[in-house]
Amino acid sequence: MEMKAQSKKTAIAIMAAGKGTRLKSKHPKVLHEVGGKPLLQHVIAAAKQVGPAEDIFAIIGHEADLVQKTVAHTGIRFVRQEPQRGTGHALMCARAVLEDYDNVIVLSGDAPLITAETIERLRDFHAQKKAAMTILSAALEDPTGYGRVIRTGAKKDEAAAIIEEKSCTPAQRKLREINSGFYAFSVKALFDHIDELTTDNPHGEYYLTDMADVLRRAKRRVAVIPALNASEILGSNTRWELVELDHKMRLEKCRKLMTEGVTIFNPESCVIDADVEVGADTVIEPFVQLRGRTKIGLECKVRSYSVIQHSRIGDGVIIRQGCVLDDAIVANNATVGPYSHLRPGSDIGEAAHVGNFVETKKVRLGKGSKANHLTYLGDAEIGTGVNIGAGTITCNYDGVNKHKTLIEDGVFVGSDSTLVAPVKLSKGSYVGAASCITEDVPEDSLAIGRGKQVIKEGWVKKKREC
Ligand code: UD1
Ligand code: CA
Repeated sequence: MEMKAQSKKTAIAIMAAGKGTRLKSKHPKVLHEVGGKPLLQHVIAAAKQVGPAEDIFAIIGHEADLVQKTVAHTGIRFVRQEPQRGTGHALMCARAVLEDYDNVIVLSGDAPLITAETIERLRDFHAQKKAAMTILSAALEDPTGYGRVIRTGAKKDEAAAIIEEKSCTPAQRKLREINSGFYAFSVKALFDHIDELTTDNPHGEYYLTDMADVLRRAKRRVAVIPALNASEILGSNTRWELVELDHKMRLEKCRKLMTEGVTIFNPESCVIDADVEVGADTVIEPFVQLRGRTKIGLECKVRSYSVIQHSRIGDGVIIRQGCVLDDAIVANNATVGPYSHLRPGSDIGEAAHVGNFVETKKVRLGKGSKANHLTYLGDAEIGTGVNIGAGTITCNYDGVNKHKTLIEDGVFVGSDSTLVAPVKLSKGSYVGAASCITEDVPEDSLAIGRGKQVIKEGWVKKKREC
């Protein structure tokens, strides 16, 4: 006989195999994003706060390889459900991996607002009631689309069944207590009876919800615990529901940042992803997007219509209107914009300025240097105190390879110059306006690379007269 573990072991199973027919999408439902992350990733994050990754199993099926690849980094385990014959069938497919456990908490992969506290309440209530099954329920203003919980028992504290909306009588349809799609089961009770599920329903699927009725008829206890915050359990079967969840999540993110000292004007118009960090006294204007791994320091200003992704911004930085930053670094007290485009690898130094219609890519702009107008800087190392005149272009690409431009400290580049890389402008040198620089410029010297101006006196007058 096998030795039984001392403490009760609990697994978490996340149902994530469905196609998501109602989204009318070629992508699997659980990979649709809200708050800047796939639905499933939110549920996994909550689960990981409750138990170790090795006890968390995602049940995947539709586009399983893609789903697994997308969330593999979370370290959880995977079970395949092939074909997908309903939520009850999903658990049948997980039987082999779950049989080592005493209890299993079942989560829906399409309900991303669930919190660790609620999962723990469900787990603890289930243990305390010694139930075979515990249903997390919620009272919704509008229960449309959800399964309804039918209460029973002298104290009405147990469930007799869950009835899917399609099978509800008109009276049952009026019940506002719904099944959240989150449950706790005693593993033994679940698998002793799971084969009693049938496909005798409008979808011809095995419904996990029918376990309530099955266990009840087997004289096992089916407990119900209402969620303290009903909106935590909302699922996303339709595009409308997805967008509503996204909206809720983003408003919540704004609220959290504001409690930490950030001002966000018109938060309804801002899109801030879950993992973004912003320091106190930073002001974010309407219609700003902060995406991915972006970090913004203290006392910054991010003005309207800027979209900042995976970027690191120091303290006291001003991002003026309409900037696009992607994978960029901006050091303390720098100013960017309006309308600057900082592409990946842009590293803007302390108190530097990048201005109107300036595009940068793989460039290091040193402390206090300025590129204020209409410029392209790519594959360049630029020192401190450099002035890049309006309309300067680094010609970094010869059609086959990319080349570097080196501009040392204190260089002054006159407006409308083209710097043909590879090329180096040494310390303290000047480039005359409208130059095409193809050769290195030595320290402290002036380079002029343009046609000489010619004056033809009286030429216009003569032309007018003939
Ligand atoms: C389900 C419940 C319903 C509850 C609602 C809460 C059933 C029969 N109904 O309905 O009572 O009110 O959730 O949101 O369970 N999945 C699989 N394999 C399958 C089918 C589905 O893993 O074969 C996964 C889906 O990917 C999804 C979850 O299970 O993440 C729930 O499935 P879904 O089709 O969204 O169920 P609902 O119709 O929302
Ligand atoms: Ca659902």
